[in-house]
Amino acid sequence: MLANMRNLLKEADSRGTAIGCFNATGLENILAVIAAAEKLHTPVMIQFAQAHEEEHLMTLDVIGPVMMDAARRASVPVGVHLDHAVELDYIRKALELGFTSVMFDGSDLPYDENILLTRRAVELARKYGASVEAEIGVMAGITLNNQKIAEDRSLEEKMYTDPKAARQFAESTGIDCLACTFGTVHGFYKSAPRLNFELVEELYRTLPVPIVMHGGSGISREDYRRVIRAGVRKINYYTYMAKAGGEAAEKAAAAAETPLFHDLACAAVEAMTKNAEEALQIFSAREE
Ligand code: 13P
Repeated sequence: MLANMRNLLKEADSRGTAIGCFNATGLENILAVIAAAEKLHTPVMIQFAQAHEEEHLMTLDVIGPVMMDAARRASVPVGVHLDHAVELDYIRKALELGFTSVMFDGSDLPYDENILLTRRAVELARKYGASVEAEIGVMAGITLNNQKIAEDRSLEEKMYTDPKAARQFAESTGIDCLACTFGTVHGFYKSAPRLNFELVEELYRTLPVPIVMHGGSGISREDYRRVIRAGVRKINYYTYMAKAGGEAAEKAAAAAETPLFHDLACAAVEAMTKNAEEALQIFSAREE
């Protein structure tokens, strides 16, 4: 069933858990994530990023209705989210399709312009009953927030989210949650991630809205538990699920006399379901 991000976050906060939000770059990811959530009887979110149009040759027009249909058919609550959108017109397209939440990513813009456009995104989303995520500051790794897929790993601690600025940003825009930077990286980790848990705790105390962790795949079980305990309520997850699917397809291709795409896709869905299930199990576990 279709669910709104605001309610999913509220429920996660009251339970002390996080909602997993998985990128849908194709049908296989959607099938895998929903199967995993249904198996665990846990709510979930699926999301499509504006940058996927260039990176994965998938378009919102094609995948959006599929995401909506999969969410409506699911036996668990499913939020359908637009990830890292940089244009208000693109956000409008997703809202017209029925997406229950959108992210306006103005992190590349000067602070005042980011506030102005985020406010406009909030006004627009409210007309559709949808909720809004935003971002300030810098996120290392693969940049999803513009049409060029660039990679930058030069993030320093001093560029992490400043709690006071984040609070001011959230209050002056009316957003429902905020993507914060505290040591995670989009894409593959080239060295073990070192997360600033004290900063997450401070953000949780200071911010009027829930914290979102981007670059959420590829982290140890212990670190997931620590960031959730510190206050992260939404975890964006993709790369390591896609890696599990790719490796399974490669293995299936090597074992077949003549690899047929539908067999490779089945192997990938199976592996990605298992990967998503492991992640959701950690995200939805309540502290004893
Ligand atoms: P990963 O691909 O690093 O898991 O991050 C996903 C993400 O943050 C999408 O917004």
